[in-house]
Amino acid sequence: MSDRYAVIGNPVAHSRSPEIHAAFARETGDDIRYERVLAPADGFAQTLRAFREGGASGANVTVPFKLEAFALATECTMRASSGKSANTLIFDGNKIIGDNTDGVGLCRDIEQNLHQPLRGARILLVGAGGAARGVTAALLASQPESLVITNRTHSKATAFVEECGESRNFFAIGADGLSARQFDIVINATSASLTAHMPEVPAACFADNALAYEMMYGKGMTPFLTLAAGAGARTADGLGMLVEQAAEAFFVWRGVRPSTGPVIAQLQRSPT
Ligand code: ATR
Repeated sequence: MSDRYAVIGNPVAHSRSPEIHAAFARETGDDIRYERVLAPADGFAQTLRAFREGGASGANVTVPFKLEAFALATECTMRASSGKSANTLIFDGNKIIGDNTDGVGLCRDIEQNLHQPLRGARILLVGAGGAARGVTAALLASQPESLVITNRTHSKATAFVEECGESRNFFAIGADGLSARQFDIVINATSASLTAHMPEVPAACFADNALAYEMMYGKGMTPFLTLAAGAGARTADGLGMLVEQAAEAFFVWRGVRPSTGPVIAQLQRSPT
């Protein structure tokens, strides 16, 4: 019988994870079944329990359940505990191990696929919600010159930075302090693009040869990417990160690392 996995979220119908994992399994020859599972907004724990009890081996967790997944895990990796959020669960007997592959997925996409070095870079991370929290530790581990966080609600950015441990090269800045600075990589980790809104990022903050990275995917040229392109920055959306975080989850579950390039190309050719 195939090993069973799923992505659990709400909404989840749009998720491309089943297609990605099916492509990985075709390449590696692993026998897996990967589904989409819609959990009611107030029913993640019950949905997860039913899925586990049905004999599943693991799950990916997406919006809005990553914090709840972390809380339900019986043990967690450092990658999950640093942002208090889990996007990958491993079922091992009575244990639920919580992991987070978003950070490594983002860093691999930026460095290996987009060839933009993180080490020594001046990085601006826009947002202080779950998406930003999930990738901060990995960005810091990649040894940037600085990692600055900005958020519409400034107090949330400062609280988050304090929680992680503010330092000379890791701090929060309000929107009014941004135009005096330049960044090599600007990452939009807000949900503003969902409603075609634009976080407060001045065009002047993109350095020469900067990369503007929209963590969402499938939204085309969002207001953030349009502003960045107008300022001369290179633009990318989060499709590569989606595939890279999935590859890391596949590796965690199966012990085999699938190729990501062909899957990213396949998804780019067939946008939904
Ligand atoms: P996610 O899990 O996607 O990060 P979240 O935890 O609800 O979702 O966080 C959403 C983030 O997007 C927050 O940083 C939010 O800013 P606030 O803390 O001020 O709410 C940001 N955000 C959402 N809509 C935005 C908008 N229109 N402009 C700027 N930032 C926005």
